[in-house]
Amino acid sequence: MNKKVKKIFIGNDHAGKDLKDFLINFLKNNYQEIEVINVGTDSYESCDYPDYAKEVSLNVLKEEDSIGILICGTGIGMSIAANKIKGIRAALCYNSTTAKLARQHNNANILCLGQRIIGFELAKDIVDTFIKTEFEGNRHLNRIIKITQIEEEY
Ligand code: RB5
Repeated sequence: MNKKVKKIFIGNDHAGKDLKDFLINFLKNNYQEIEVINVGTDSYESCDYPDYAKEVSLNVLKEEDSIGILICGTGIGMSIAANKIKGIRAALCYNSTTAKLARQHNNANILCLGQRIIGFELAKDIVDTFIKTEFEGNRHLNRIIKITQIEEEY
């Protein structure tokens, strides 16, 4: 599957603001060809992560060749919320290997990160790997189809 990422929607709550700023800077310096759209909060005032999970997810579903990045304190709340939306496969990744496999095997369309859990340099590697890795298809495709069937059934 040769699909290049053209747009990234990035969202965060108050606990993910610093990592979001850092990653936007990284993406602007290293991926000029990718449009980065910030839909997260730019404030440290306490807010609710599901609002941003929903905003990023709906944009990712609407825009072909886009992926999402969601950042909260742990990445857990964002991943739970985003995965409630049909068609979203949000993966909470904590190293480059999980980022690579989330794309190759699970065709994840949203990367979730926990600012309070991982270091910023590691987050950069994770994002880099997530962008560069493609879905392998083949036997994994059938499993994605089964996930879609679960979404339809329940
Ligand atoms: C906010 O304090 C925190 O609960 C949130 O950012 C996230 O970690 C939830 O999963």
